[in-house]
Amino acid sequence: MKENTILAHAGRAPMRVGAPVNMPVHRASTIVSPTLNEYEANERGDNMFKNVCYGALGTENAFALCDAVNQLEQGAGSMVTSSGLSACVQSILCFVGAGDHVLMPDSVYGPQRMFCDTILRRFGVETTFYDPRIGADIAVLIKANTRVVYTEAPGSLTFEMQDIPAIAKAAHERGVVVVMDNTWAGPLYFKPLTHGVDICVEAATKFIGGHSDLVLGVITARTHELYKQMRGFCVQMGEIASADDCFMALRGLRTMRVRMEAQQKNALELARWLKGRPEVKDVLYPPLESDPGYELWKRDFTGAGALFSIVLEKTPRKALSAMLDGYEMFSIGASWGGYDSLVELCHPERTAFGRKGPVWNEDNCSLVRYAIGLEDVDDLRRDLELGFERLNAALGN
Ligand SMILES: Cc1ncc(COP(=O)(O)O)c(C=O)c1O
Repeated sequence: MKENTILAHAGRAPMRVGAPVNMPVHRASTIVSPTLNEYEANERGDNMFKNVCYGALGTENAFALCDAVNQLEQGAGSMVTSSGLSACVQSILCFVGAGDHVLMPDSVYGPQRMFCDTILRRFGVETTFYDPRIGADIAVLIKANTRVVYTEAPGSLTFEMQDIPAIAKAAHERGVVVVMDNTWAGPLYFKPLTHGVDICVEAATKFIGGHSDLVLGVITARTHELYKQMRGFCVQMGEIASADDCFMALRGLRTMRVRMEAQQKNALELARWLKGRPEVKDVLYPPLESDPGYELWKRDFTGAGALFSIVLEKTPRKALSAMLDGYEMFSIGASWGGYDSLVELCHPERTAFGRKGPVWNEDNCSLVRYAIGLEDVDDLRRDLELGFERLNAALGN
């Protein structure tokens, strides 16, 4: 089945007279069986991962969403979690114990960094943050007790690309599990599992949901063994998502291709325009030919998430407020991947305990991140233009 057909058909309600197109919402904790034998057979062994037997193990809506995402990721099985962050966290916890070591890119999503520096440390797991551009040289950082090499491409806020196949090869030579947060490209524009990654994480909150109205994570495993291990772990941790959120995410998935294509077209046009603005020192967006990650992006990815940052000279907060507060199209808010444009002032140095690596020098610039939506690109450009006018006026230029 081609990808667009998977998007339109996977996880649909079974065809019968009177059936709606979309799988109805099955809100349930208890699932009943007519006989003891059927009850016990339904949740015996692997069935517990496949059949609806208790709400906390998955509803019809969770299974339908997992089926669709798994097909798109070309995995052995998917599972839902209560948030994108919980998917990131569980994908580490599943593989480590006291005395182990994990490798994290310095540009990792801030709360994931915080998790490593606090909870993992408390449980005796050591984290080394590495330069995300390291490629095959990750091999020198792998120790006898390294259990997970975590990746995220491009990196949060600063958008460094990673050579995923090279990192995966080096990790596998030492028997280490490779996890990737693939939320920026999503399952349509990059397939981590076909590039050597073992466990792929998506914050479905972003492009899969697509409408800024749900919080959800999806984890997909490359092999059946890894799926069983990861799914068993999530069940034990009580990880699940509500039937309503799974329904909404699957509904979002249907239009993900058309949304993402329109959004990346807008994003690329605006990123190119911003690159030419005198106020902008740099635009951090791998699909730009000038971006250091462009070659890797072009080699491995088939599209781009509509999310990038611009670098400004170090700018006083008052001037930044003047620029951001006056936007009409770009609301100030966390998250991204919805149909609406958003803007956020970023402080990579403040994420958790601060980035320690060589990637971001916070002293001499200000960083602003834009999530580009489905609005008309001319209106978005005009909004940005007026923002620069306010910025210049506030700076007395
Ligand atoms: C790259 C990345 N991964 C994971 C997450 C976490 O997703 P959620 O907000 O669903 O916890 C985010 C959220 O912003 C993110 O940007």
